[in-house]
Order: sequence, then structure tokens, then C-alpha cells
Amino acid sequence: MTTSSELLDLSPVMPVVVLDEAEVAPDVARALLAGGIRTIELTLRTPAALAAIEKVASQVPDIVVGAGTVTTPRQAADAADAGAAFLVTPGTTESLLDAVTATGLPFLPGAATVSEAMRLTERGLDTLKFFPAAASGGPAALKAFAGPLPQLTFCPTGGVSVANAPDYLALSNVGCVGGSWLTPGDAVAARDFERIEALAKECSALAA
Ligand code: 3PG
Repeated sequence: MTTSSELLDLSPVMPVVVLDEAEVAPDVARALLAGGIRTIELTLRTPAALAAIEKVASQVPDIVVGAGTVTTPRQAADAADAGAAFLVTPGTTESLLDAVTATGLPFLPGAATVSEAMRLTERGLDTLKFFPAAASGGPAALKAFAGPLPQLTFCPTGGVSVANAPDYLALSNVGCVGGSWLTPGDAVAARDFERIEALAKECSALAA
């Protein structure tokens, strides 16, 4: 893995995953892989997240595992230490940008407005997370971004579903979409990996 834009080419949908138990992470990753999804974003929203990243990185080498919901400099460093191959932030501050840059990992910094995107452009960044996508105007907003900022590519997340993903993926400035619907909490809790694989298959069939 070398660049942020290559991350967006791995799969049309980046699974945004919240896990309460690290033990289940490798099987979730294998189910996504079996469904044709080659990347997984494990969010730092639970105490299990860093251990989950470690387990996927060491046990499922064929999937590219990253850390999501990185909101503090400390989390950026911890995620890198745990073996994350990329970082995703929901929004950006200067100190957070400094910290994620210092890891040397590719990352997707979050932006929801043209001004936020322009600030990231000033930092030399061209591949961003658009969050929260639906609440920030959805595909119509991103389409409008492409006028003044045609050099930027986005991964919209937040309110994206299998039903509306094609509307985002059809845009020239969208590389992939992200979402939590591939790994529903009840499916993870029930160890229903067949359901996760089926949801992943549906997503990998979407045209990027
Ligand atoms: C994220 O951090 O990307 C979002 O929480 C995912 O949003 P979703 O649950 O609406 O897919």
C-alpha cells in the first residue's frame, strides 16, 4: 500500500466496522474477503479496536486493514503501532493532521465543506473522506465540489447504503464509498459470517 488514492481503488465499498470483541475480527475480515472486499476500516470507537487491528493485520494478510474514527494524535500513533495500514479521520484539526502525517501511513482526512476541503488541499492532500455524506448534501453536494475542486477524490461515508451507493459511485470525484451496513452489529454478535459475506458480495458487485 503506497498512496491514499490506491486505497479507494481496492473495493467500491470500504466497510466501516465497529467491534466489541477483538476475537471476532479475523473472521469478519475473512467473510468480507470471501465476498470480494479487500479492505476493512476498524473504527477506534470501542476498547477492542486496537487489538482487533492487530489480529487482522497478523492473521488476515490478504485484506488491507486500517483504523477509522481517528480523532486524536495519540490514536493515530496507537493505530500505527497496532499495525494499521491506513488511517481515516471523521474531520480534521491541525494537530491531528500533523500526527497522521507523522505515521507515514496513507490516510483519508475527513471534510464536509468546500472550505475544509480547501484547507486540506493547502496541506497537499487530494484524497478525502466526505463525512457525514448524506447529512452534508449527499451526491448533489459532492457533484458541486467537483466544479471548483476537480483535483479532489472522495470516499463519502455516513448515511450511505447499498441503495444509494450507485448515486455516489457514478460521480467523477468519488473513488469508493464507506459504510457500516456490511457488518451489522447483530450479525457480528451472532457470528453470522455468511450474512456478512453475502452483504460484501452485493457491495463488491457495485461498479466503482
Ligand atoms: C463513518 O464513520 O464513516 C460512519 O459512521 C459510517 O456511517 P454509517 O454508519 O451511516 O455507514
